[in-house]
Amino acid sequence: MATAVITGGTDGIGRALATTYLRRGHQVLVVGTDPAKGAAFRAEADRAGAGERARFLTADLGLVAENRRLIDHVTTHYPAVDVLVLGARYHRSTRTETADGLESNFALYYLSRHLLSHGLLPLLRRAANPVVLNFGGAGQTGPVRWNDLQLRHDYPGTGALGHGGALCDLLAAHLAHLHPDVPQVVNHPGPTATSFAGEYDPATAAHVRRLRTHGRPVAEAVAQILPHLDNPAPGLTAVLEGRRVRTDTPAFDPAAALRLHTATERLLAAL
Ligand SMILES: NC(=O)c1ccc[n+]([C@@H]2O[C@H](COP(=O)([O-])OP(=O)(O)OC[C@H]3O[C@@H](n4cnc5c(N)ncnc54)[C@H](OP(=O)(O)O)[C@@H]3O)[C@@H](O)[C@H]2O)c1
Repeated sequence: MATAVITGGTDGIGRALATTYLRRGHQVLVVGTDPAKGAAFRAEADRAGAGERARFLTADLGLVAENRRLIDHVTTHYPAVDVLVLGARYHRSTRTETADGLESNFALYYLSRHLLSHGLLPLLRRAANPVVLNFGGAGQTGPVRWNDLQLRHDYPGTGALGHGGALCDLLAAHLAHLHPDVPQVVNHPGPTATSFAGEYDPATAAHVRRLRTHGRPVAEAVAQILPHLDNPAPGLTAVLEGRRVRTDTPAFDPAAALRLHTATERLLAAL
């Protein structure tokens, strides 16, 4: 049986992808912080007769140790991973640090994805047709603040999400370059009506309320990305609102991707 592991699978686009893969007969492990949302996912699967294939793991992926616990869990319980969706996010308008002392968007939006996509690579390689979906900038966000990856100076508010997206583009580019047998799809879905998990200042909260009502339906965002996951090209694919975009651009530059990888490994070694 094929396996899908979906971070951010308890809500928004991740939840809709989890339901899609359950319907297709996969076993699906969703990861989030809220046990009530995990229970709701499992209850919905039960009602659809797929309860035994629906799993939920509580983990705060903003913490390095929690990502390592998830990697251990998946490695222990699943022989292979066919689909890895990296969709967890939680935005804060005000700069916040995690218990590891890392800027929170950097930790959840980027570092978690670095840890999981490297840590689960051996299991992805055991699948016949693996694919990784990373919600990044698809070349539309950035630039990378090379001297301030954790946004200590002039914290950009919602721009922190764009910065994380640019880091995810480089992460996917690096992995695709080294391991073209495990296709990497970076996707920017465009404004989509999801929960927009986060803690917002009043102006951003008003904007988020509008997006929750006027954003594109989640089903549309899922329909736009699925064809790219079902038949992924080897290596790297970048998708913006369903449309494939070029990857021979500075956003995916292999030298920059290697630079980020090196800086990230150095940071992890120092923790
Ligand atoms: N919606 C948009 O307009 C839009 C636009 C561009 C890009 N994207 C990207 O698309 C992806 C999915 O976004 P979405 O809008 O569908 O998400 P969402 O509705 O905001 O849901 C966020 C998910 O992340 C999980 N999460 C939050 N903090 C976590 C933590 N510390 N550890 C583990 N999981 C955590 C939440 O689960 P719990 O509540 O259980 O913790 C939830 O499942 C994200 O990467 C986002 O950046 C979305």
